[in-house]
Amino acid sequence: MNPNLHIFETPEETARAVAKLILAKAKEKNKLSLPFNIALSGGSTPKLLFTLLANEYVDSIPWHFIRLFWVDERCVPPTHAESNFGMTYESLLKHVPIHDANIFRMVGEADPQKEATRYQTLLEAQLPQHNGIPQFDLILLGMGDDGHTASIFPDNLALLDAKEFVAVGTHPTSGQKRITLTGKLINEASQVVFLITGPSKSAVMRQIMQREPGFDNYPTSYIHSAGGLADFYVDKDAASEINS
Ligand code: 6PG
Repeated sequence: MNPNLHIFETPEETARAVAKLILAKAKEKNKLSLPFNIALSGGSTPKLLFTLLANEYVDSIPWHFIRLFWVDERCVPPTHAESNFGMTYESLLKHVPIHDANIFRMVGEADPQKEATRYQTLLEAQLPQHNGIPQFDLILLGMGDDGHTASIFPDNLALLDAKEFVAVGTHPTSGQKRITLTGKLINEASQVVFLITGPSKSAVMRQIMQREPGFDNYPTSYIHSAGGLADFYVDKDAASEINS
């Protein structure tokens, strides 16, 4: 079994475990008077985590040391129902004392390629570098039912090795353009944490964790951190097909 696989009874317990990890890591950086640079994913899974952080961690997390970036963004305005920033703002940002200057939004409404280039330049300026690559303290990822992560989909594995750190992805069925961090930058992070819950993820989780034939079709399979394996925080439903 993957030593970095952490299984919890419910989505709530899984989110709570990730919240505790974020608190611990942010406090570590705070003690060093250093910022905590974190990149968040969107979709539906993180909402539980963001709501928990907003409801129970306002006073414990050193929000003034948090610098918030995104893993990916749909190419829509922030007011659009599918905006990752919009979801994060409603569930988290408007409830916590994080400085506006420390919120680095991907501008979904901009020209996609221009925004990808702008965001890459921003990351190169705002983050410390490791092996010549901008390095996050923590990147929070989700995984789609098709094994995609960020906006790196199975039909575009090239984004895992792209020379750019930020690129334009395309949703394979909707055709929606996305701004996304690419594999090189994600895999250079000090820590990468997947938050994955629900029965719809169980088959792909099994294939990836047990390296079944075809596991390498899934972008999630290629993700790791600078120092080693990615951490998988999953609930029982998502882990239900994994051999214990
Ligand atoms: C996005 C996310 C994406 C997400 C997965 C899982 O913009 O959609 O960044 O990578 O993490 O699609 O989405 P759910 O949490 O909705 O299952």
